[in-house]
Amino acid sequence: MFAVRNSTTRTVAAAAAGRLPYATRSAAAGTIRGLATVNDAPKPKKTKFGGLKDQDRIFQNLYGQHGADLKSAQKYGDWYKTKEILLKGHDWIINEIKTSGLRGRGGAGFPSGMKWSFMNPAGWEKGNTPRYLVVNADEGEPGTCKDREIMRKDPHKLIEGCLVAGRAMNATAAYIYIRGEFYHEATILQRAIQEAYAAGLIGKNACGSGYDFDVFVHRGMGAYVCGEETSLIESLEGKPGKPRLKPPFPAAVGLFGCPSTVANVETVAVAPTICRRGGDWFASFGRERNAGTKLFCISGHVNNPCTVEEEMSIPLRELIDKHCGGVKGGWDNLLAVIPGGSSTPVLPKSICDDVLMDFDALKDAQSGLGTAAVIVMDKSTDIVRAISRLSKFYKHESCGQCTPCREGSTWTYQIMNRFEKGQGRTREIDMLQELTKQVEGHTICALGEAFAWPIQGLIRHFRPELEKRMADFAAQHGGAALAGGHAHNARDLGKLIAPGQ
Ligand SMILES: Cc1cc2nc3c(=O)[nH]c(=O)nc-3n(C[C@H](O)[C@H](O)[C@H](O)COP(=O)(O)O)c2cc1C
Ligand code: SF4
Repeated sequence: MFAVRNSTTRTVAAAAAGRLPYATRSAAAGTIRGLATVNDAPKPKKTKFGGLKDQDRIFQNLYGQHGADLKSAQKYGDWYKTKEILLKGHDWIINEIKTSGLRGRGGAGFPSGMKWSFMNPAGWEKGNTPRYLVVNADEGEPGTCKDREIMRKDPHKLIEGCLVAGRAMNATAAYIYIRGEFYHEATILQRAIQEAYAAGLIGKNACGSGYDFDVFVHRGMGAYVCGEETSLIESLEGKPGKPRLKPPFPAAVGLFGCPSTVANVETVAVAPTICRRGGDWFASFGRERNAGTKLFCISGHVNNPCTVEEEMSIPLRELIDKHCGGVKGGWDNLLAVIPGGSSTPVLPKSICDDVLMDFDALKDAQSGLGTAAVIVMDKSTDIVRAISRLSKFYKHESCGQCTPCREGSTWTYQIMNRFEKGQGRTREIDMLQELTKQVEGHTICALGEAFAWPIQGLIRHFRPELEKRMADFAAQHGGAALAGGHAHNARDLGKLIAPGQ
């Protein structure tokens, strides 16, 4: 596959440069006009997504059918022609990643090729500091369980990925920052790293390419915010994991003050296969701007919760029906889905019926693909309680540096706690919405958005449920609670309440 692609690439380049006869040019490259009989009409646009074939799965050992050791990994294609990839140099690798359309799998979905290229600005080679690839294996977003599967079953994909991505960035070493609780995964990863060193695949003269590259594992201490890239860097430096203000961005001033790039485990692990099979191959999956195959982790009220690799842009319903045995009690028993990890806004069934699972489709539906952690809730779910529980999580995880996040996450948690019981006034729903809007975009890191968005999603789609609870509470208690949660007759009882009530 690798050799075929090379010769095609060379032929296309030669044709484009005008060194080949006209007829050959048309045969070599569909983009160059050929004989009248050649059908050079644009390829029909793909309209159906999903049904990824086994041979197109990058993570061949997701279910642990074979060992995580080097020999098994090599049998399934890892470390194949890695030396040739390295020798092609950073521009070639970055170009291949750009062609693939790969967008970061850590949540934000930033184009990876462009991000990696920020490590090589003009004159980068004159710098004499080390340069780092930092792999984000913190995987703290509730619902997400894909990176741990890669490290547990396919560690060599990640290590080879470190080498290839590291070469693209001209990095000297990779630090894999792994969530502390992943003891088992860290052990497997460390074992695989030692195997790779012993085989000369990493370390001095990695794969015989003349390029020196080290890989280290660092275990974190289990704080969600340490998954944020600058917080992760702080933690790696031995300091409390508190996010840094940007700029400067890590590519300019990162780990230990050196140029660094933080990338997610899945993003890094797919890089070697993209380079071997070609960026065009990866780009042939999914809708435009949403290319590739993707690991989806589906949990909650489905018959068979799982992590599965599928084509990007697969319809949500197909993903659940095909790989998870459907929603418990059938599709009509579905209440809502959180499509991309706990920080993405919840979607009601009416949207889930036909939404596609990719960055743009979910953004259009006012949610997000995030980490592609799909949390399914059937009609037995207390949706207010579910979102309230997430508020508790984010309140607990706020590092406290920014007032809107520190105070806002506490207030929203307290309000949500009351709303669970219907203890509030309908106008407080708008106040809560306003509060979350004031947090958005006004904090150092995106944890502010992470606690604001689930609440916004709840209000957007389940406002009648909130109002019903308040009405029920009023009926049971002889009147609606006053703002702040005080009993309707608190004034008569002489209890201290806020001025103006
Ligand atoms: C609060 C917070 C927690 C995050 N946790 C993770 C995480 O556990 N793993 C991860 O890969 N990215 C996480 N991110 C995103 C990272 O900051 C960063 O965007 C990502 O690692 C970049 O990798 P990518 O370009 O491959 O997507 C988190 C971001 C925030 C704001
Ligand atoms: S947004 Fe929250 S978690 Fe992020 S830096 Fe500010 S206080 Fe810390």
